[in-house]
Amino acid sequence: VTVRSSLIDPDGGALVDLVSPPERRAALRAEAEALPKVRLAAVDVEWAHVLAEGWASPLRGFMREDEYLQSLHFNCIRLPDGKGVVNMSLPIVLAIGDRDKEEIGDRPDVALQGPDGGVLAILRSVYNYENYYWIEHGSFRIGMTSTWEICSLLSRIGDDLHVSDDEAIAQAGNWLIGGDLEVIEPIKYNDGLDHYRLSPQQLRNEFDKRGADAVFAFQLRNPVHNGHALLMNDTRRRLLEMGYKNPILLLHPLGGFTKADDVPLPVRMEQHSKVLEDGVLDPETTIVSIFPSPMHYAGPTEVQWHAKARINAGANFYIVGRDPAGMGHPTEKRDLYNPDHGKKVLSMAPGLEKLNILPFKVAAYDTVAKKMAFFDPSRSKDFLFISGTKMRAFAKSGENPPDGFMCPGGWKVLVDYYNSLQTE
Ligand code: ADX
Repeated sequence: VTVRSSLIDPDGGALVDLVSPPERRAALRAEAEALPKVRLAAVDVEWAHVLAEGWASPLRGFMREDEYLQSLHFNCIRLPDGKGVVNMSLPIVLAIGDRDKEEIGDRPDVALQGPDGGVLAILRSVYNYENYYWIEHGSFRIGMTSTWEICSLLSRIGDDLHVSDDEAIAQAGNWLIGGDLEVIEPIKYNDGLDHYRLSPQQLRNEFDKRGADAVFAFQLRNPVHNGHALLMNDTRRRLLEMGYKNPILLLHPLGGFTKADDVPLPVRMEQHSKVLEDGVLDPETTIVSIFPSPMHYAGPTEVQWHAKARINAGANFYIVGRDPAGMGHPTEKRDLYNPDHGKKVLSMAPGLEKLNILPFKVAAYDTVAKKMAFFDPSRSKDFLFISGTKMRAFAKSGENPPDGFMCPGGWKVLVDYYNSLQTE
């Protein structure tokens, strides 16, 4: 008996799966030996993973120039049959240097190696094109294709945030190469967290198994405090009010590249476990999984990618709050993006019409009610904003954050982490 899934359709209608079947793998490895080779950086491997599992469906590989230009200038790409567009706000591109380009010449297929030299994939019917925007503009807004843009922005304004290493910049090539990707076997990180890395298809199976009639996704790259939990629990309440019987929460921490002062993934995963153990979120109706994408800190542009990828994983509701995918301005004491633009843009974004966006006001610590609550501007002096920097200061000084900011188990994980930094 086939159970017909009632989950939202993936972009383009069918979920892309670019991992070759086991019986094909030996032949692909043999074929790769004779092909020109391109060595991937860690962040390229993360994108290959994203593409392989269909998070970027209907995209079937690193972008060729036509897809790149559409993504860059429209934040969308046209469907292959010309019928409509899907959202695709981050260009997923692979940069190569002059030497690689020469070696490839006019050969149609290229083997992609991981950072350690092992062959991961073959890129077929490749197309080389100029890495124009990176070179000419190097702009955060226009480029956004890697840490390279962030660095070039920062270097232009004289900052030293160290969001990338110099090597990555030196390696960023003059050319981009696009094509159809065939990944030899599922990409693993062997960091003890692979069991959390469910593909969009695995997530869909899980939602079906649980009989979800609504799936609401929460993207995050920070530890869960009770303000985040307020958004998630309030969404659940609203969905039940709307008549859904079994809404399932996808708690979906981003697992790829993050900047150095963000809390590392293993620490976040431990913290998230405590949040479920301590009952801040209900384990019965929550699935915790890792989203393999790297972070670009591209604010309103990137939040579209975060939402779009979750459609492919089966989510039909998407929570967005304050300053999604944002970061502090590198030199001024303010946010780099207007913190309300992310949710405004997401509610209007072309290609995301079928996704229900749930925009939320900012949550902060209410010193009168002694809990995290939605900020009330009429009594703003009662509210305390606890930033990452402030959290770090609390943890360093051994001081506890105010009661009700974060569950004790989750807080302890952070204290241990920040203390371990101090002793290094
Ligand atoms: S993000 O880069 O993944 O967007 P973060 O982990 O900080 O960053 O945020 C996860 C989600 O929670 C985003 O939708 C963000 O807008 C929302 N959010 C974070 N902090 C708050 C807050 N204090 N009030 C309301 N929403 C928030």
